[in-house]
Amino acid sequence: MSPSWISTRHVDPVKEGNATGTPPSSPICVFLLVVTIGLGVGLGVGLTRSHEQDGSASTEPSPPLGNITNATTGTFWKPTAGTPWQIVLEYALNDTSIDVPVYDIDLFTNPASTIDSLHAMNRSVICYFSAGSYEDFRPDSGNFTKDDYAKPLDGWPGEWWLNTNSSNVRNIMRARIALAASKGCDGVDPDNVDGYDNDTGLDLTEDTAINYLTFLAVEAHSRNMSIGLKNAGGIVNATLDMLQWEVNEQCGQYDECEDFQQFLDAGKPVFRIEYPSSAPDISTTTLDGICNNTAAVGFSTVVKLMDLDNWVEYC
Ligand SMILES: *[C@@H]1O[C@H](CO)[C@@H](O)[C@H](O)[C@H]1NC(C)=O
Ligand SMILES: *[C@@H]1O[C@H](CO)[C@@H](O)[C@H](O)[C@H]1NC(C)=O
Ligand SMILES: *[C@@H]1O[C@H](CO)[C@@H](O)[C@H](O)[C@H]1NC(C)=O
Ligand SMILES: *[C@@H]1O[C@H](CO)[C@@H](O)[C@H](O)[C@H]1NC(C)=O
Ligand SMILES: *[C@@H]1O[C@H](CO)[C@@H](O)[C@H](O)[C@H]1NC(C)=O
Ligand SMILES: *[C@@H]1O[C@H](CO)[C@@H](O)[C@H](O)[C@H]1NC(C)=O
Ligand SMILES: *[C@@H]1O[C@H](CO)[C@@H](O)[C@H](O)[C@H]1NC(C)=O
Ligand SMILES: *[C@@H]1O[C@H](CO)[C@@H](O)[C@H](O)[C@H]1NC(C)=O
Repeated sequence: MSPSWISTRHVDPVKEGNATGTPPSSPICVFLLVVTIGLGVGLGVGLTRSHEQDGSASTEPSPPLGNITNATTGTFWKPTAGTPWQIVLEYALNDTSIDVPVYDIDLFTNPASTIDSLHAMNRSVICYFSAGSYEDFRPDSGNFTKDDYAKPLDGWPGEWWLNTNSSNVRNIMRARIALAASKGCDGVDPDNVDGYDNDTGLDLTEDTAINYLTFLAVEAHSRNMSIGLKNAGGIVNATLDMLQWEVNEQCGQYDECEDFQQFLDAGKPVFRIEYPSSAPDISTTTLDGICNNTAAVGFSTVVKLMDLDNWVEYC
């Protein structure tokens, strides 16, 4: 039985290593341009409207809408392109021996003391949670309603795609981001924001995802935390300005690393994960094939097992 959170991965176990698994690239340049301009010009209006429409009674204070601009001027942590990292989601972190300046760890399973000790080692901490799926095993799972989610994530029991427009869902995510702040996380890694690419049973469009990322970014920034994009190559241009990094899975395997180059060009890290099927016994040839990828020069690459345990290999 696989841990449910594995569904967060841009992984289809059936298709792994199969060239037909390459997701279609998005022919939406004009659309994104319009959206980008719309974001720049009308962001405050759009956010205000969505809050009013859903009539949400938030449990946390709504952040000032103006904070979206502090993606540039805010004082929150902003990692630079090429920063090495480690990611462990399988269990609460119990191995801090990898000497890298960034750790990406699970928001719920790790206590504040773990984050404190990483800080004491001069490391920054990104806290992971699923923003786009309902997981039935989280401490706050009971807060979701049946109306909040639709189809299960294909191949990953215990997870369902969330309606990211739902005010209830957004309130829960606001509480999760507040939890990250209370634990001292420097940033958050919200997963499963690319439902528009999947058979979710919901009308999740790229527009919906951009609106949702904007909501999440305002919530994180207003609490002095940074935030990144997870996979979601189709909305890179539209969200780049407000986000501080990209966490990518398997861009080498699926030949889509160029989709994330914009982050690097903006001086922001692309935290890239590859999951070679032979791991943890990877040959030099396999490692070279991952590391020599000319479309991923400057990416922060880790080679991991799909369960994202402590094991890691670097280029
Ligand atoms: C979501 O869609 C992407 C792109 O088509 C695919 O690679 C991925 O496996 C899908 N995820 C799930 C959980 O079905
Ligand atoms: C993103 O922006 C870059 C640089 O402006 C451009 O080359 C690329 O085509 C854009 N991608 C999409 C999907 O719009
Ligand atoms: C925000 O976070 C940064 C980076 O950790 C820190 O230097 C700064 O003091 C924090 N600002 C506030 C207002 O807490
Ligand atoms: C970390 O915890 C996992 C799960 O409990 C365990 O299997 C693993 O051996 C532990 N590793 C270390 C280095 O303590
Ligand atoms: C702490 O980490 C930062 C960022 O990686 C680095 O610039 C700085 O030199 C480190 N400080 C010490 C005392 O190691
Ligand atoms: C969700 O559940 C937790 C734990 O049961 C509770 O403390 C919290 O206030 C609830 N509300 C939200 C919006 O997460
Ligand atoms: C979310 O809202 C957008 C408009 O902001 C709409 O186009 C879309 O259909 C909605 N999606 C869902 C799942 O309700
Ligand atoms: C990767 O680069 C190394 C060093 O430049 C080279 O020796 C190796 O043959 C390359 N491997 C692949 C698979 O391209």
